[in-house]
Amino acid sequence: MTGTDIFSIDGRESHVVYTEGLPALDESGESLYVFDRNTAALFSRLPEGSVVLEPGEQSKSWTGVESILKAAFARGMSRDSVFIAAGGGMICDITAFAASVFMRGAGLRLIPTSLLSMVDASFGGKTAINFGGYKNLVGTFYPAGTITISPAFLTSLPLREFLSGLAEIVKYAMLGDASLYESLREKAAALTRAECRGDAGFLLDVIRRTLLIKARFVGEDPTEKGVRAYLNLGHTFGHGLEAATGFERFTHGEAVAWGTLRALDAGRELGITGRDYAAGAARLFTELGFPAKVSGVPAAEILRAMEKDKKKRLGRVKFVLQRNLCDTFCENLEQALVQKIVERGIV
Ligand code: GLY
Repeated sequence: MTGTDIFSIDGRESHVVYTEGLPALDESGESLYVFDRNTAALFSRLPEGSVVLEPGEQSKSWTGVESILKAAFARGMSRDSVFIAAGGGMICDITAFAASVFMRGAGLRLIPTSLLSMVDASFGGKTAINFGGYKNLVGTFYPAGTITISPAFLTSLPLREFLSGLAEIVKYAMLGDASLYESLREKAAALTRAECRGDAGFLLDVIRRTLLIKARFVGEDPTEKGVRAYLNLGHTFGHGLEAATGFERFTHGEAVAWGTLRALDAGRELGITGRDYAAGAARLFTELGFPAKVSGVPAAEILRAMEKDKKKRLGRVKFVLQRNLCDTFCENLEQALVQKIVERGIV
């Protein structure tokens, strides 16, 4: 499958271009490419003036933004020029942020290179850098004009990174596509095999179906005042786990899988979430190799990290829960229940 989907987000058009091969780096016109050291190595020659950042969250900073803006200025770019990110979530987020503030908004194209960034960071208009010790504290809403999706990047992606993206795909299916959810359940064992990462047709189909789900939520609520918050299913608990372990021990997907299981457990405890649905989702995550329980992390650390996150957001953190497949709502949870659920997620 190749082709283009055109979505409108907050009055701006985002063209999602699906292609099986590696995208060619277009040097015509005024553009500035941003890579990290790993994604730069995927191309035999980088366009002149490209910015290459160190991989890792520490690059997602004002210093990183400054180096992109300086390079744009040195190239004599204007508002009509295009910032092009080729990388994972970090590169997509920071390049999008730089493009959104350069002359009050320049052109933006994203070429996500990890499964996670293909289905999440690249689409929907969230831009970000880290600030004051918090992830993504500073950012804007600025949808990319073009997003190029190429599964050719995924053939060399380590399984753990691939699975990290897959956890987000499962989450999206749980929120908005029962038939995608069922096919992920049917194919769970095959998804962890190396051949799957080379199956461009299958991957393009799954990525496209995931983006169509996301587009429905984002289209309805681009600035997250309502249903877009549902996309945070599993993230309140999951972020607590990531933060308690310094964002190093678990991939984002592992934390989201764990967090989603906690959200289903909380819904079960409240008598709201269907038993068979919760058990089926737990089976799916387990078949994909995600631990239903984690070890070596004190519950108190996770709870502290969740509390800190809540304070940062001035207490406006609601938990995303589900009654059933594609039936989602937000709820405040009592602290005692949160503690019980977190403790049950630890061996
Ligand atoms: N990652 C969820 C969102 O884009 O809103």
